[in-house]
Amino acid sequence: MSVLVTGAGSGIGKAAAHLLAERDFKVAVTDLDEEAAQRVAAELDSFSTVLNVTSRQSIREAMDEAEAAIGPLDGLVANAGVSSFVSFLDMPDADWHLMLDVNTTGVFYCGQEFARRLVAANRQGSIVNVASMAAKQGRIPWLSHYVASKFAVVGLTQSMAFELAPHGIRVNSVCPGYVTTSMQRRELVWEGKLRGMTPEEVFELYVKDTPLGRIETAEDVARAIVFLLGPDSSFITGEALAVNGGAFMD
Ligand SMILES: NC(=O)c1ccc[n+]([C@@H]2O[C@H](COP(=O)([O-])OP(=O)(O)OC[C@H]3O[C@@H](n4cnc5c(N)ncnc54)[C@H](O)[C@@H]3O)[C@@H](O)[C@H]2O)c1
Repeated sequence: MSVLVTGAGSGIGKAAAHLLAERDFKVAVTDLDEEAAQRVAAELDSFSTVLNVTSRQSIREAMDEAEAAIGPLDGLVANAGVSSFVSFLDMPDADWHLMLDVNTTGVFYCGQEFARRLVAANRQGSIVNVASMAAKQGRIPWLSHYVASKFAVVGLTQSMAFELAPHGIRVNSVCPGYVTTSMQRRELVWEGKLRGMTPEEVFELYVKDTPLGRIETAEDVARAIVFLLGPDSSFITGEALAVNGGAFMD
């Protein structure tokens, strides 16, 4: 399979790109941060390009370049995402719109551009959207905008799965928990300030909140992404797979 990964310059996207390459998938490493994408692609001896998930033009150009480099795409990992911590009452419009633009509209744009290519060429394929445990549970402080953006990803995943099934395109999402990435390192500082705790103390809260008793790694999520993308999950579509060590069990 030839797979394009968004937000692959860091964290979960980077781990997914690494595992896909290890398992002999052809990988297009893309990110808003072009240098980060180039660094990851160099580690994998793979192709990279800049892709901003909020711009259709950027997505189309990146998909054209990726197909010229690694062949027709039949896999998409819509992973790029952002976060911030703000109370609902203080939520600035800018934070709200950034969450929805990147985390939700980005998944819509990338999925639609990808699926249109496959349907036009009569090719089958698979999409994995990266949601969050905050896509299933709103009882989390300071994240109403993020929760809304990720609940939307799970709903969109189901609707895409339903409409794209007749075209042989599967669509699933993963819902990670407390994953150690640069996003989490930023969040530990923000949440620490809001709770009057050190980042290390917040980290311990995350571990305590995880029944399996350790912080989640990007590789934990990457294994689920690769499973849902590839042939081992060939009869699974519309699923939102929790990958969180039991945190926020529903
Ligand atoms: N870290 C966690 O605990 C956690 C938990 C649940 C879900 N997630 C989700 O996992 C995904 C990856 O997060 P991460 O923790 O690896 O974060 P990260 O910050 O390490 O990586 C995110 C990447 O997305 C890129 N990006 C940001 N805006 C972009 C845009 N407009 N277009 C393209 N790329 C863009 C960034 O440059 C960065 O390389 C996100 O969707 C996030 O919401 C993370």
